[in-house]
Amino acid sequence: MNHDLNSIAPHGGTLINRICTPEQKAQFLEQADHLPRICLNQRALSDLELIAIGGFSPLTGFMDEADYQRVVDEMHLANGLPWSIPITLSVDAKQAACLKEGDWIRLDDPNSRFAGVLQLTQKYICDKEHEAQQVYRTTDEKHPGVKVVYSQGDVNLAGDVWLLERRPHPNFPTYQIDPAESRALFRQKGWQTVVGFQTRNPIHRAHEYIIKCALETVDGLFLHPLVGATKEDDIPADVRMRCYEILLEKYFPLDRVILAINPAAMRYAGPREAIFHALVRKNYGCTHFIVGRDHAGVGDYYGTYDAQYIFDEFAPGELGIQPMKFEHAFYCQRTQQMATSKTSPSTSEERIHLSGTKVREMLRRGELPPPEFSRPEVAAELARAMQIPVGV
Ligand code: ADX
Repeated sequence: MNHDLNSIAPHGGTLINRICTPEQKAQFLEQADHLPRICLNQRALSDLELIAIGGFSPLTGFMDEADYQRVVDEMHLANGLPWSIPITLSVDAKQAACLKEGDWIRLDDPNSRFAGVLQLTQKYICDKEHEAQQVYRTTDEKHPGVKVVYSQGDVNLAGDVWLLERRPHPNFPTYQIDPAESRALFRQKGWQTVVGFQTRNPIHRAHEYIIKCALETVDGLFLHPLVGATKEDDIPADVRMRCYEILLEKYFPLDRVILAINPAAMRYAGPREAIFHALVRKNYGCTHFIVGRDHAGVGDYYGTYDAQYIFDEFAPGELGIQPMKFEHAFYCQRTQQMATSKTSPSTSEERIHLSGTKVREMLRRGELPPPEFSRPEVAAELARAMQIPVGV
């Protein structure tokens, strides 16, 4: 038997670990009260965590200007590795003026708890409009990702970070599986090929269809919903997690699925974020990554398949993870199954397309989404969680 299983390398070759050793932690705790302090927002805290656990390998800290510029303009780090989203820590000019390059800075979480440390190596100003245009393909402040960029401080702080300790996730501790652990699990299960699935929604029939199409050709599924900051009208993570559990229990072969949380914040950067999502899943040990319609999109800022076309901008093998691209899936009344235009000859009248927005509207009207769109158990859980009395 071949024991050289799942040997996909992390991005850049080494899985980064920036979690303090007990000695480092003790040392930082001793110094804590004397260090200048920055309070991280939810997104920056997610980024700190992901750097520390290796989800953002090869990053060891927040980006300096050379990395930032090249990522924004050319989708590569200064060392030439592909990377599509800036990972930056910003503060306002007044706060920046009090910090010196070379300083050790204490990073607190949004509840003012000591979370980590940054060794400041550089302060630089960024051009927010340029970043928005390059990364989000729009300067419209109504775009939720652009809005965040515009609301950030004007000065970026660069430098390596350390996470004080890896705390269990307050809501989903059993689903907190970090990259070193997911890699070990895949090896244990003997999976040579693993497909990663990103989602910020309850799983509907179209999701299930593309996931299962992928699962027909690989050894395992890493179901990796994002639970970091999302926009307000997205379904909350705790509701989604219950929906995933319910769906998996009845409709999936449990021995071929691992459900784990992705602590990242959502950027809604469409194509650029699809590349980023794929690289992060590569670090978790996935060999394949699903990219469907309007991946990580919002409103109508991106074309339906822009997030697939962007993969062609990289040389073959450069990303080191294989995208599995899927067309817009729907329920086909003619063939009475989920399908895409690649597999169904149906007319548009015979296709049931439903979106998350439509489902929310139906639930509000007291209607359960039909089984062609959502598994009934998932629809019922959504109705229950949203406290909507549904006439069933
Ligand atoms: S995302 O912001 O995380 O991309 P969502 O959770 O809706 O949003 O999508 C998860 C994945 O499923 C993405 O790859 C997306 O492109 C894909 N997807 C969503 N709906 C469909 C659909 N109807 N047909 C094909 N792919 C889809």
